[in-house]
Formats: sequence, C-alpha cells, structure tokens
Amino acid sequence: MFDILVKGGTLPDGTVADIGITGDRIAAVGRLGAEAGRVIDASGDLVSPPFVDPHFHMDATLSYGLPRVNASGTLLEGISLWGELREIATVEEMVGRAVRYCDWAVSRGLLAIRTHVDTTPDHLRGVEAMLEVKRRVAPYLDLQLVAFPQDGLYRAPNGRENLIRALDMGCDVVGGIPHFERTMQEGADSVRDLARIAAERGLMLDIHCDETDDPMSRHVETMAAEVTRHGLGARAAGSHLTSMHSMDNYYVSKLLPLIAESGMTAIPNPLINITLQGRHDTFPKRRGLTRVKEMQAMGITIGWGQDCVLDPWYSLGTADMLDVAFMGLHVAQMTHPAEMARCFTMVTEHNAAIMGLAGYGLRPGATASLVVLDAGTPTEALRLRPDRLCVIAKGRVVSEQARNDARLGLPGRPATVRRRHP
Ligand code: FE2
Repeated sequence: MFDILVKGGTLPDGTVADIGITGDRIAAVGRLGAEAGRVIDASGDLVSPPFVDPHFHMDATLSYGLPRVNASGTLLEGISLWGELREIATVEEMVGRAVRYCDWAVSRGLLAIRTHVDTTPDHLRGVEAMLEVKRRVAPYLDLQLVAFPQDGLYRAPNGRENLIRALDMGCDVVGGIPHFERTMQEGADSVRDLARIAAERGLMLDIHCDETDDPMSRHVETMAAEVTRHGLGARAAGSHLTSMHSMDNYYVSKLLPLIAESGMTAIPNPLINITLQGRHDTFPKRRGLTRVKEMQAMGITIGWGQDCVLDPWYSLGTADMLDVAFMGLHVAQMTHPAEMARCFTMVTEHNAAIMGLAGYGLRPGATASLVVLDAGTPTEALRLRPDRLCVIAKGRVVSEQARNDARLGLPGRPATVRRRHP
C-alpha cells in the first residue's frame, strides 16, 4: 500500500501512468491498482517532475521600489540600487522576503532553486540570511547558494576575501562577474582564479559571464578553456552569455566547439535580458539572448533561468518557470513542436542536470517530488501556464489548487470554457 497514489496522469513523454509514493520516494510507476492512503486523480492532466530554477537572486527578491525604482532599466543602475539596499536590509527582512518567495515558488511547482548570494559587503548579512532560508525550506525545497562577488572579485575592496569567507560559511557554488571587473584582463584573471578555487574545493562553478551587449566581451572563451583545464565539465555553468548574440559569426564558429569540448552548461535568463540588454541601441535593437539553438545543436546543455522577481533589476515576475520558458521560446524562436517540447524539458530535466540534483525524475527510487498541471502536454502547459492542481515535495502534498475554468452565463452557449485544447 502506497502513502500517495497519483492516478492516471500523462507524463511529459506522453506515457499514461500511475505513480505510487512511499515515504519520500517514488515506489512504482506504471498501471498500479494498489490501494493508497490518499489517491489523487490526475486523469487527463500532465504530471511532471518539479520545475527547477538554476539562476536566481533571492537576497534581493520582492524588494521592488526599495530604495527606489530603476529609472534607466539598465543592469548597471540595478547593481547601484542593490548596493544601497544591501546596506540597509536586515537578516530578518531578507529571510522574510525569501521565504515568502519560496512559498510562491512551491505553489507553482518550483522545488529547486540556485540562488546567487552577494558576497561583496564585509558584513555578509545576505549569506547569513540565505543559509537560514536554506535550512528552513529544506524539507520541501532544494536551495543551492552561489557565493557571488556582485561588485567584482577584484574591483570590490575585499571581493576575493569575502567570497572565500562565504564559501567557508557554507555556500555551495563559486560565482563570478568578469564583465564587471575593471579591465578585460582582470575579468579573464578572475575567471582563472574562480575556476581554480572551484577545482581545489571540489565545488561547482557558475559565472555571470558576458552579460553585456559588447561583442568583444569574450570571457566565455576563457571560462571554457579553464573548465577544460580543470576537468570541471558539467559542474560549471555560464550564466547569461548575452554578448554572444553580437559576436562575429566566424569567431562563434570557433567558440562553440570549445564550449562543447569543455562540457560546461549554459543558463540564459530571457525575462530579464530581453528588458536589460539593448538599452543603448536605437534600431535595430538587440534581444539580449545568447545563441540557444546553435549551442543545443552542438550538444551543449542549456536551461532557462529566472534571475529576478520584483527587485532592482526586474519589476515583474511570477516564480513560474513556465513564464520563463514561454519568453525564452519566443525570443529564441523555438516554435517547432520539438523545440517547444524542449523548452519544457529545459525548465525541468535540463535545469536539474545543471544543478546536479540527485534523485530527480519520475522513476522508482527517485525523490517523490512532482507537479500535476491542468494541461494535456508540455507544449500546452507552455501555452497556458496553467493551474498547478497539486504539488508534492519529498512525499508530502505541499500545495493544491482548484481547476479554474470560466463559467459562462450566455444563452445557448456552453456553460464552461476550458482553456485547454479539446
Ligand atoms: Fe543573475
């Protein structure tokens, strides 16, 4: 007898199956007639492994308008505003905002998040706060912390020392921001330094890399070489990589095989970069998105990241990875049925691979975490961004939502309008 039986759902690959859960593990997947402590009817609904966000800033989330809004809409004004906010934000306030965000995420079936934590200020209150949040949400949400030198590893007065302190305090991943160092040379040096730190400590590496419209910002080249040198492979991720949209095509034809050879992954963040980038352009105005399909064609693993929700950089956001994938699909023009389906896989399996999540997936022995969506297929889920009817995290039902179809009172018309495809 299972603790929970999710009955008759359609898995992302189209298979119809029951999922039996015992404790915090998936015990069986298939046609299961067995009894259960609780049966959840998922007939006709999509049952997916949980959504995963490999790029976020939880120390800043839900702070929109503090200390004031970003008037220029640029990355640099956002960094400047955050520099003021982090000096007045208390640990309690940051914990409160972050836990509220995690509640929101759980309700959307988002159960694993990698968050970059600013390690610039000597007080490291953000690190203290996010370690507390990680402890609090651990029973239902996997939080990975990146030690992130927001103001530069070398450009900030104690940038390197504080990054090391943050790793010693318990951050899981080594971060960086080479395009924000003082010179291109110091940016490249920071990438070498950070890759060495990650290799020596046996940690993952995730660098904000070339988040600029400058076609000559080429830190991803250095990163790929260092990832290869240290054998970091898929334990390394290049976040953003926006400058690649403007690089010379011949140069890119050399660069892509080097990235593929390294085994590193990539995390574009379409919601934020479609608004932040291209702000100095007139027309044509660039889209702020790296070469997603071209990298995938080379076998490079790519996910979609959310980056920001209601903070100094981004004034909107929903904690819904389907919104992120929906924007990515549009900006990268991934409209073929196979590409749309891949966009769903990017915010589930591919993001989980990027974060190195153990026990992820809908198979016997995996962690019992899943989401039931009011949609028939992954592509329909992208089109509708539908209700999350049930979210199960580590064997417990953590969120439920009623189906939300419109009921019409029109004479001679159907009484209910379903948004789903018939
Ligand atoms: Fe970021």
